[in-house]
Parts: sequence; C-alpha cells; structure tokens
Amino acid sequence: MEDFKPGLEGIIATDTNVSYLDVDQEEIVIRGYDLIELADKKTFPEVAYLVINGKLPNNKEIQEFEKVLLDDSAFPEDAYKVLELCPDSSMLMDAIRTGISFLAGYHSESDLMDTSEKSNFTKGIRLIADVAILTANSHRILNGLKPVRPDSSKSFSENFITMITGKTPSDKEVEIFDKILTCYIEHEMPNSTFAARIIGSTLSDIYGAFVGAIASLKGPLHGGANEAAMHMLLDIKSKGGHKIADDYVMNRLNNKERIMGFGHRVYMKKYDPRAFFLKDYIAELAPNITDGEELHKIYKIVEEVMAREKGLYPNTDYPIALLFYLLEIPIPLYTPIFFASRTAGLVAHVIEQHNNNRLFRPRVLYTGPRGLKL
Ligand code: CMC
Repeated sequence: MEDFKPGLEGIIATDTNVSYLDVDQEEIVIRGYDLIELADKKTFPEVAYLVINGKLPNNKEIQEFEKVLLDDSAFPEDAYKVLELCPDSSMLMDAIRTGISFLAGYHSESDLMDTSEKSNFTKGIRLIADVAILTANSHRILNGLKPVRPDSSKSFSENFITMITGKTPSDKEVEIFDKILTCYIEHEMPNSTFAARIIGSTLSDIYGAFVGAIASLKGPLHGGANEAAMHMLLDIKSKGGHKIADDYVMNRLNNKERIMGFGHRVYMKKYDPRAFFLKDYIAELAPNITDGEELHKIYKIVEEVMAREKGLYPNTDYPIALLFYLLEIPIPLYTPIFFASRTAGLVAHVIEQHNNNRLFRPRVLYTGPRGLKL
C-alpha cells in the first residue's frame, strides 16, 4: 500500500542521462547543460543534436544534421494523400498521428523492428524531419490548401515557421520561434515521454513509441494546454478585456475550474524556468498585431490572480500560447508544434530505453470484489 502513489507522483520510473528537472536549483538540466542557457545561445538544431548525441555539434556536424532535418527526399507523396483522406473535422494531432503510423510502413519489417542505436538514430532523425512536414501540411491540407515542401536554403526554424504561416517571417520572429522550439525540446519524464518509453520497453518500434507519445501530448493537461490557454485569453478579450480579467479568473476558480497554462506536477508552486525565460519576448511581439497589447495586459492580470489566489505560476504553455498567437500561427497548430519540437527528446529517450531495456510492467492496488461464484 505504501508503494501506491496515484499518478505515480514522485516515483522514479527510470534512470536517464538525457535530462533532469532540478526544482531546488530551478534548472532544467539537458545533457549537463542548462536548457535556458541553451535556448538563449544555441539554435534548435544544435540543441536537438545535443539531446540525441549527448554532445554539442561542431560546425561540420551541425551543417550535416540541419541538412538532414530539411531533407524531404524520402517523404512520400502518398503521405499527403493520407492527410487528404482525414475527415475535415480531424484534429491536427490525430492527422499527424495517422501520418506517423503510415510512414512506418515504408520500412521493411526488419529495419522497423531494429532497436539498435544506429537504426533508431537514423529512423529518429527522419522522424524529426517528417513530423515537421506533417505538422505544417496537416493544417494546410485540412484547410483545402496545397502541400508545401521544406526549403533547404533556410534554417530549420525559418523554414518551419514559413511552412506554417505561409508568410516571410522577420529575423526577430524566426529567433523567437527557434527559442520556443528549444524550450519545448526535452523535459525529463512528462506523460508523453513516459508513454514512448513504455511502448519502447516491449521492444516495439520508434514509430509506435511516437504514436503513443503524440496521443498523450494531445491532452489538455499536457501539451493541449497551450491551445486551451489561448482560447481563454481570447475569451476574456471578447467578454470585456483586461478590465474583467480578474473577475473572469475568480469566477473560474470559484467554479473549481482549471486555468490552463498554470501549475505543473514537478514545479507546482514555482515558476517554470522556460515560462520565466520566454515571457519577456511577449512585449517584443505584442505590437505585431491589433489587440496584441490588450492580450498582453490580460495575460499579466491572469498571472497575477493565479499567484495571489492559488500560489500557482505559469508553465511554459502559457507564454508560448500568446507568443504563437503574436507570431500569427493558427491555434490548432500550437500543440502539434510542441510535439514537433519534442520529437528530438523522444528520439533520445527511445534510444536510451532500447539500449538498456527493462520491460515496464507495474502492479495494481486491487479494489474489486473477490470470490464471486459463477
Ligand atoms: N488551475 C487551477 N488550479 C490548479 C491548477 C490550475 N491550472 N493546477 C493545479 N491546481 C490546483 C488543483 O486544483 C489542486 O488544488 P486543491 O489541492 O485545492 O484541490 C492543486 O492545485 C494540485 O493539483 P493536482 O491536479 O493534484 O496536481 P497535478 O500534479 O496532478 O497537476 C497539472 C498538474 C499540470 C495537471 C495541473 O497543474 C493542471 O491541470 N494545469 C493546467 C493544465 C496545464 O497547464 N498543463 C500543462 C502542464 S506543463 C507543460 C506541458 O506538459 O505541456
């Protein structure tokens, strides 16, 4: 009984040398480095390389790596058809999940089921590139637009945001988008990473692990919180703006509703370092759009009320929701972009799981009846 922790709170599920949330030091450790310092000084592909390989790349290594991340020569045309076949009402996360499943079929059975580091690495890098293509095109195709292919003359982040919005971003926008991707890249043992490792632990393949992870990350208690947070900010704006923001949050709290983008299983009563780092970019982008300043005001009031009433602080999904909006990214793409970034962390975890595997198979606290007779 004393081993039972609902939601596995505080339970150490595995050892890892990929990342660690050091709550006391308020540091997200990624392969020995501080994630915030990495986000500040390195690009998303550099940090993705670090997450997967355990070391930062030199110039030649990063050039080759970024080239592979932008290479769509192995991306089959039929994968666009799969997106086209998804019903118009499909959520993008489900369309992308379906796309990932489909792409697994392009490997021979022996290649797909090869759990060696070399094979997982090759398939994993391909998956990072392919999930970005699926992400941008899921939204386009479900909205009746033609698919777009990556432009390898651009950096990974510039290409990704251009494919998403269809517009030419400013250097500042690319820089902020890149930092967001880096902040999302890896975060120890959230539900989706655990899901991937559980699936990997049966010696199932990396595609299956990704399919489980994306289904997990979709939930509003996890990655889906960024979209929910943005809908809330827009709801407050439409109902009266910053003047009613305090009452709006109080009303929700009194109704025992959750405010999305706040709280965290591990940090809970502390500021998520990623949210603390990213929030300052909001002021830079707010003038970008009509109502940007108003949304920023609402954002700050909601944050104040949550600290005052619940002692809860924003997690990374809160500032990112507004930053994505200011970057003019369609809301249904917020959670898919989170997943596209997290693919790097997932590759590292599946490799680690397969390299030192032990099947996950916990027990239960049985609360049902016994001794029933037929
Ligand atoms: N709004 C209102 N109250 C909250 C919130 C919130 N966002 N988060 C936690 N609480 C309260 C909760 O009601 C409970 O209060 P009480 O003890 O009075 O009943 C207390 O805090 C503890 O909550 P819990 O649900 O037992 O804690 P948990 O560790 O299971 O929850 C969480 C973690 C992330 C699910 C939760 O904070 C939450 O629902 N947040 C909103 C969703 C969200 O932003 N998710 C993103 C998580 S981080 C990034 C990511 O993974 O995408």
